[in-house]
Amino acid sequence: MKIAVLPGDGIGTEIVQEAVKVLKVLDLKFELEFADVGGTAYDKHGHPLPEATLKLAKEADAILFGAVGDWKYDQLERQFRPEQAILGLRKNLGLFANFRPAICYEQLTDASSLKPELVAGLDILIIRELTGDIYFGQPRGRRTSPDGAFAGAEEAFDTMRYTRPEIERIAHVAFQAARKRSKKVTSVDKANVLETFQFWRDVVTEVSQQYPDVKLDHMYVDNAAMQLVKSPKSFDVVVTGNMFGDILSDEAAMLTGSIGMLPSASLNASNQGLYEPSHGSAPDIAGKGVANPLATILSAAMMLRFSLNQPQAADRIESAVQDVLAQGLRTADIFSEGNAKTPSVVKVGTREMGDAVVAAITKKTTTKS
Ligand code: IPM
Ligand code: MG
Repeated sequence: MKIAVLPGDGIGTEIVQEAVKVLKVLDLKFELEFADVGGTAYDKHGHPLPEATLKLAKEADAILFGAVGDWKYDQLERQFRPEQAILGLRKNLGLFANFRPAICYEQLTDASSLKPELVAGLDILIIRELTGDIYFGQPRGRRTSPDGAFAGAEEAFDTMRYTRPEIERIAHVAFQAARKRSKKVTSVDKANVLETFQFWRDVVTEVSQQYPDVKLDHMYVDNAAMQLVKSPKSFDVVVTGNMFGDILSDEAAMLTGSIGMLPSASLNASNQGLYEPSHGSAPDIAGKGVANPLATILSAAMMLRFSLNQPQAADRIESAVQDVLAQGLRTADIFSEGNAKTPSVVKVGTREMGDAVVAAITKKTTTKS
């Protein structure tokens, strides 16, 4: 098994280092190969997704990704910006199915900006289509407006489009995921306004005929944004397009109060996957040793489960993460005001958190043998 490790920018290096530490203590046979990506790669090689990095990613069974992006690259021509690395990996590897769980951990209920009773026990799964929609639709660009009220003026445009097979395959992913959960899918669209999303609704409905045991409902994206803060627990599996999924998954992640805890997986048709934390590169805290490595560590667990067929190893990581939370360890992002009064809760840095997960895994291993 070969894992491509792409730490990237900002806190990417620090958090990936901890996840690698955790992977190594599992005593599994795999090869880890590191490569540059994002702004770091641009600085060193003149491109955010160098040939060598793409080649490694294609060959690997799975990719462990940190984060990319920094304000200092905002002025670059689009093709050289760090974000192009992740978009390029998604497109080149065909990683169309993006899983973004939003889970509110019991010990972190107070960290949410919503009332505890609204989020306690929250466990939803956003499935975002990742290689189509307005993100990749052609044509796009700048031009002189050919028509309309402002014909002749400078304009910019993107194209929203989805083909039937693209919608069908993500719908299947969602229905199959729902079968392993509470058998309920909410498909989010904007069928009342957009042709693309009326088509989306029609195709998802058709696919649903093959899953009579799963309950499907449809919701407009504006309403979904509202319901997510009003009654998040009314959702289970949410399936949506690339653009809406980008927005809703950030909203869902944040309302758990634990965006630093949430992993994600992006899979292609052959289960090759890219695994990354749901949060970004946080350049404001980069290098300070305070970032939460748990989302990346949990992404490594997802990687073991989905792409590397090592479910037991994944369980060991996940239960070790539960243990460190139960021990009261909190990085700054999940340390809430109320915690300051609880003596058993301690604020720790990135490395201490990683070490604690490693210790929890080692302890269990020794107890068992
Ligand atoms: C995400 C990010 C990316 C996206 C950016 C970095 C291109 O926001 O993974 O959600 O928009 O998909
Ligand atoms: Mg996003």
